[in-house]
Amino acid sequence: MSAIWAEGLTKHFDEVRAVDGIDLDIAPGTIFGFLGQNGSGKTTTIRMLTTLLRPTAGRARVDGLDILADARAVRRQIGVALQEAGLDDVQTGRELLTLQARLFGLGGSAGRQRVQELFGIVDLEDAADRAIGTYSGGMKRRLDLAAALVHRPGILFLDEPTTGLDPVSREGIWRYVTRLSEEDGITVFLTTQYLEEADRLAHDLAIIDEGRIIARGSPAEMKARIGTDVVTVQIEAPDALGRAAEVAAAVEAVERVQVADGAAVVYVPDGARAVARIVLALDEAGIEVGDVAISRPSLDDVFLEATGHHLQVEEPQPAEGGAA
Ligand SMILES: Nc1ncnc2c1ncn2[C@@H]1O[C@H](COP(=O)(O)OP(=O)(O)O)[C@@H](O)[C@H]1O
Ligand SMILES: [Mg+2]
Repeated sequence: MSAIWAEGLTKHFDEVRAVDGIDLDIAPGTIFGFLGQNGSGKTTTIRMLTTLLRPTAGRARVDGLDILADARAVRRQIGVALQEAGLDDVQTGRELLTLQARLFGLGGSAGRQRVQELFGIVDLEDAADRAIGTYSGGMKRRLDLAAALVHRPGILFLDEPTTGLDPVSREGIWRYVTRLSEEDGITVFLTTQYLEEADRLAHDLAIIDEGRIIARGSPAEMKARIGTDVVTVQIEAPDALGRAAEVAAAVEAVERVQVADGAAVVYVPDGARAVARIVLALDEAGIEVGDVAISRPSLDDVFLEATGHHLQVEEPQPAEGGAA
């Protein structure tokens, strides 16, 4: 049985097609990455799957339970850490987790024990009795994560758990998520706008753009599917870009060319051999070439190939607090 399954899942807000008919089939115990830039429909998808928002159309099951007919049962099986968690700054971490435990019927010594265990899982023992207002951004995310785990859910939804965090705090969250998956077999549905995060964490991945899934598979499969090297040639004059793409496309063995961010992105099987021919052809056409780079396909190339544009990362306003 799939941990999460959806067919034609759709949410329209008037004319905005936030989520436009997505299918999902996520195996239990895997970390599923849902990669997309701001506004692509990630949070709306999570809100539907976690029963917080009613779909316009389509069906979905979480842990075999229908998100509409069995909404209450779904909620008991899942943990959710949403993007905009409303943490109360004057509360201590322990007060927050204790309250959360009570909401799930874990009071008294069982509750106290679970809360202590959770502080251990996210390495916050030393900060447990401090006001949340004194936590760094990374510590707050770890507390969010702990709060989502109180009732030992089998399926965890994390909405951009590392957005706005510094690299060290980000690595910390990756470590906890990996451990939850490996040691406890928890299924994780994780949204992100970071290519590296998707690449590092996700067993399986879907790329969402404008409410539609435009690519899916493991990160390695997706990259392999491109099937060529990627030669990126910066073109000095913006108005020469279109012509540069035509010239590059006519070079022997070149399969495709795309134009993005002032560069011609050339897909060709043997990049190292082709690069001299490409640069020469551009030179002969009188087109001035800037930096040239050869690379194996990355998820950025997968994204570019499918959408025609690079994934734009939008960091939030400077977050309070520093490192974890
Ligand atoms: N409650 C809402 N009312 C109207 N439009 C919304 C609402 N929630 C989200 N949207 C729109 O739906 C699209 C997808 O949003 P969202 O799911 O939040 O994307 P993401 O989480 O990937 O940034 C965006 O265009 C957003 O403005
Ligand atoms: Mg979002």
